[in-house]
Amino acid sequence: MSRYAHITGWGAYAPPRVVTNDDLSHLVPTTDEWIRDRTGIVERHIADEGEYTSTLGIRAGQRALEVAGLDPAKLDLVICATSTPDYLMPNTASLIQDGLGASRAAAFDLNAACSGFVYALSVGAGMIRSGTYDSVLVVGAESMSRVMDWTDRSTCVLFGDGAGAVVLQGSDRPGGVLACEMGSDGSGGDLLTVGLGTRNPMTQDTLAAGDTFLKMNGQQVFRFATRILAESTRNVVGKAGLELADIDLIIPHQANTRIIEAAARKMDVPAERLFCNLDRYGNTSAASVPLALVDAIDAGRVRAGDHIVMVGFGGGLTWGACLVEWSISPRDRAWPLWWRGVQWTRYRLAGAKSFLHRADRRLATIGSRVRRREHERDNGTPDAHAPRAERNGPANGRVNGRL
Ligand code: ACO
Repeated sequence: MSRYAHITGWGAYAPPRVVTNDDLSHLVPTTDEWIRDRTGIVERHIADEGEYTSTLGIRAGQRALEVAGLDPAKLDLVICATSTPDYLMPNTASLIQDGLGASRAAAFDLNAACSGFVYALSVGAGMIRSGTYDSVLVVGAESMSRVMDWTDRSTCVLFGDGAGAVVLQGSDRPGGVLACEMGSDGSGGDLLTVGLGTRNPMTQDTLAAGDTFLKMNGQQVFRFATRILAESTRNVVGKAGLELADIDLIIPHQANTRIIEAAARKMDVPAERLFCNLDRYGNTSAASVPLALVDAIDAGRVRAGDHIVMVGFGGGLTWGACLVEWSISPRDRAWPLWWRGVQWTRYRLAGAKSFLHRADRRLATIGSRVRRREHERDNGTPDAHAPRAERNGPANGRVNGRL
């Protein structure tokens, strides 16, 4: 029997601090008028100290699980689409998995820049359709403000921070994610970069050269974006055996209203059929599509039975689209207060459990150190069972971690 992957929960979170175009005009030589006219952006949310990609993702994930009415411990997998992870390691999805108390779930990050959420949705739906997993949380979360050069007016006015998430669940009932398509053209990788990585580790030189910040060839990306948005939408609609006229709503990556309007003209669909909330969030990269999806649901633009296309494009260059037959009436997802109380308690317990696991590991480490010291004191020789690094001393024959 065929399995189908349905979106049963959704949630979004944007940090409370709002930065307007006027605020930015005090920082770089720009104006509210220029930013509105050229991009459509009016304001964006910026993460404060103590807020990270993972914490934004946890808040969005909690809301999505609440709407789905799903115990986090029942999740099989957490995928976090991000290009601004908390760390290179551990992955942000594992931090989200821990923060949610999704104790049975596997977790991995997926980096396809602004196409990341659509890629992750496609992977999650594929896992469900293949029968590998039954419940998957797909998160798009970004702290773009942390990779901005706040002296570069051509980029810093464009981006914002936020997160969105959906719960995918398997069912024998037809519908849900009907078709996906993904693509990449690595020859355009240099058009949009955040250079920090193993090829370009953080040193005084790379910091001084600004290589750790986002850099973009805006005009080239603009040209690519208007073409690929229309192309990818057409492709996924064709794959599902539908026509553009069958699509009730298109949720494009929110980079620039001019890109969205140009794509609408190319596809010959009314501009109102492409959802746009860019004015309030700016470009939140992998978070933009789920943030827009949740806003569209809240605005009453999504009903059970609708055909919806989510389409992304961005660094890589990458692009992708998913066509969803929406199967849940958003009105049926208003759970009673007591149920939300249960979820809230689960999240608090998840925090306590995580704390206890960490404390348990720390105690185990202290215990083994004490036993080793006792062994050395009693026998006068290092414990042969101690980790080799500890027996050989801290540097272990290497200087500065280099061979
Ligand atoms: N305020 C005032 N003037 C500005 C600003 C600013 N914030 N930024 C640039 N300008 C100036 C430029 O210096 C230039 O001045 P000049 O003519 O004297 O040299 C002038 O405005 C025009 O600059 P352009 O770059 O030609 O402006 P354009 O109309 O192309 O708009 C923009 C720039 C908004 C970046 C546009 O190219 C764009 O939206 N590109 C696509 C970005 C995108 O889609 N990114 C998505 C991928 S995101 C991801 O994957 C992470």
